Amino acid sequence: MCRPTHFTVSYEINPWMHPTVPTDTDLAVAQWQELHDTYVRLGHRIELIDPVEGLPDMVYAANGGLVSDGVMYTAKFTYPQRMPEGPAYAQWFTDHGYRVHTATETNEGEGDILTVGDYVLAGTGFRTSTASHTELQEVIGKPVITLRLVDPRFYHLDTALMVLSDTEIAYYPEAFSEGSRRVLERLFPDAIVATEADAVVLGLNGVSDGRHVIHNPRATDLAAALSERGFEPIGIDTSELLKGGGGAKCCTLEIRA
Ligand code: ARG
Repeated sequence: MCRPTHFTVSYEINPWMHPTVPTDTDLAVAQWQELHDTYVRLGHRIELIDPVEGLPDMVYAANGGLVSDGVMYTAKFTYPQRMPEGPAYAQWFTDHGYRVHTATETNEGEGDILTVGDYVLAGTGFRTSTASHTELQEVIGKPVITLRLVDPRFYHLDTALMVLSDTEIAYYPEAFSEGSRRVLERLFPDAIVATEADAVVLGLNGVSDGRHVIHNPRATDLAAALSERGFEPIGIDTSELLKGGGGAKCCTLEIRA
């Protein structure tokens, strides 16, 4: 995770960002702290990367890369404003003894690349390139399934699809192309299908440890569906970070041993 010390909205690279709307960095830090402390309370170990001045989106650690079986596949950002984050995250992993594979193709890490058991779901359409999906598959040796995003509000896969366990997901079908919807229906016939009301508050941008699911408390239909399936939904308000277009999952890069 990366503390949002320098968080603000000073440019616009997704439809959620409005540089004219003021941001409250102290509130962003407080909300992020609550998310951090919740993970700790649930028994998870958190590693922190130092925030870099001038990189206001660095709080969205999910975009910093992808870790699979201890190997880190670096991010290569789409927009120049975020490009320096790629090497910053790669350096952290190098310094901490991980094998780092430097991506040659454009990708935004776990923002678009989500692990579900032995498979990887990979988004494309707005940020991450399909060439990176192929590159990633060669690096990690897991099947990488391409999913096409079609609604600019859901510009990263993790804004439209949440992994709940090694076999379960929740998603918002309208965010995907026709063919990709059919792929998801085929692979996950029992998935939780999110309501539009929950999707448009980025309710799917949550984090599950297989039991607890941390999500936007405004996603009430999702919380009910999760409880019904035996998960424990935990609402954490990250409204300030939503001004940059992200929620709990965006702030969390999962380190898979
Ligand atoms: N402002 C950031 C961007 O547009 C938000 C990134 C959100 N991260 C995520 N994993 N969806 O790049």
